[in-house]
Order: sequence, then structure tokens, then C-alpha cells
Amino acid sequence: MLIAQITDLHIGFDGPGPGDENTKRFKDVLAWIGSLIKQPDMIFLTGDLVESGEVRDYKTLKAIASTLNVPVYMGMGNHDRRAAYLSVFRDSPQENGFIQYAVEHDGLRFIMLDTLKEGRHGGGFCEGRANWMDKTLSEKPDMPTLIAMHHPPIETQIPWMTSDNDAPWVKRFRAVVDKHKNIIHIMSGHIHRPISQRFSHTSVSVSPATAPQVKFEIADMDLNTPDNRPLLVESRPGLCLHHWDGGHVTTHTVYAPEGKPIIRFDKDHAYIPKMTRDISEPR
Ligand SMILES: [Fe+2]
Ligand SMILES: [Fe+2]
Repeated sequence: MLIAQITDLHIGFDGPGPGDENTKRFKDVLAWIGSLIKQPDMIFLTGDLVESGEVRDYKTLKAIASTLNVPVYMGMGNHDRRAAYLSVFRDSPQENGFIQYAVEHDGLRFIMLDTLKEGRHGGGFCEGRANWMDKTLSEKPDMPTLIAMHHPPIETQIPWMTSDNDAPWVKRFRAVVDKHKNIIHIMSGHIHRPISQRFSHTSVSVSPATAPQVKFEIADMDLNTPDNRPLLVESRPGLCLHHWDGGHVTTHTVYAPEGKPIIRFDKDHAYIPKMTRDISEPR
């Protein structure tokens, strides 16, 4: 099973209309996906769907998403606003006002979590959401389950974006993960950089953003003393492809568009994959 994860679209950063660069970047990502021989079975959009929670931008997103012919699952990021989202995506599943839900495909379960605390940039995961997560996981303890969420529950070292391992919401989330050994992976976004880390008994990946990326720099910063470091940099839109083979999740990070082909698998170059593929050595 192939799962495309697109995150941090920030549609509407440049305002409404076709001139919005992030809308174009989202379309570029979808065009790249469309060029694949093996198409993903579903697409997860893990938050910061729009820049400032505006209804008009959710409408733009809906118009584009409606052209896709695979299931699309959406979650909330800190730039989203639930009421505006729900006014456009009226059929969106929700739990007690939060955009949290579980879906299943071919023996794999997905749980979308809502880590938005409106008015706050960092994550939030209250007791009620944690209880729902625990209860929902308890319903199918033997089914491999992939968690999707916007904020990564890890210390990422990017000093102006990271969560803190001791943050109450992270501790609350970790306590639930610790109990459920069937969580095979956690996919997240928010940092606008590709990052991976072990977490409890499982793993976390952070997908790069559709919108521009955050500069890699882990030097401490004094929030009161600007040091002129770059924060955001020009960059192609990124995404993750998660492959599930029944035993493992393999995460590929991609930037779209990729470069022009240098060599193709044509008659002249048919010998190359035969040479390069690591098949079993003869004894
Ligand atoms: Fe973002
Ligand atoms: Fe975010």
C-alpha cells in the first residue's frame, strides 16, 4: 500500500486567486504524483492546509482535491481553523468538535489526530483527545495502525519551531502510544523539514512542506537578539510517500518536480537494472 502525505500547504499565503504561489506548489506536487507509474492508494493532508484559516482558501483546496480520484484525508494544523474548515468540508468526520477519526484500508488502520490549539503555534492535545485516541486504539489492538498528526511530538532541534519532550501535550500523547504496540508509524508535518526519530516503541517522520522549507540550523537562538540567520528558504515543494508491505513502513521523501531524466529504462540501458539490483548471491 502506498500512502502519499502532503503537508503544510499554506494555501492563500499570497491572498486569493490564481496568483497564490502555494496553490501552484500544491498543484505541482499533485502533478508529480500523477506522473508515477504506481499511484498512491490514498493521500493524507496533515495540516496547515491554508495560511490563515480563511473559508475562501478551504474552497480553493476543495476544488483541487475534488479532482483527485483517490481518497483524501485531511487534518488540522496550527494555521487552520476548525469552524472555517467544517463550513466547507461539511462531511468531514469529527469527534467532539475535533477533526479526529479512524479509517481502514486493506487491513491497515489510520488514525488522524487533531493537535491544533487555536491561537497557539505549537501543538495541543488535551485529555479528551488523548482519551479518544486511547479508546479508539483499544477497539482494534491487533490491527497495524498508522497515526497522522500535524505537530511532531519530538524535540527536533530546530530552535524556533520545535516541541519540547516535556510539553504536557507531548507527555499525554506519549502515554497513549506507550500502551499500543500496534502503532507502526507516526507521520507528521509542521517543521517544514524532513526529520525522523524513534519514538516510544515506534517511529516518527516529519514530511517537508508543500510551502517553502525551514532552513536547517540547530544553533541555539536568543529570542530577544535577532542574529540575521535565515529562517525560511526558497525550495521546491516536498512530500513523503509511505509504503506499507505488511511488516514495515518505508518512508520516502521527495521534492517535486524531480530533475529531468538522465537515463531511462529503454533498450539501450536495459542492462543497468540487471546489474544494479541486489539479487541473492549464488552460494
Ligand atoms: Fe506549516
Ligand atoms: Fe504548523
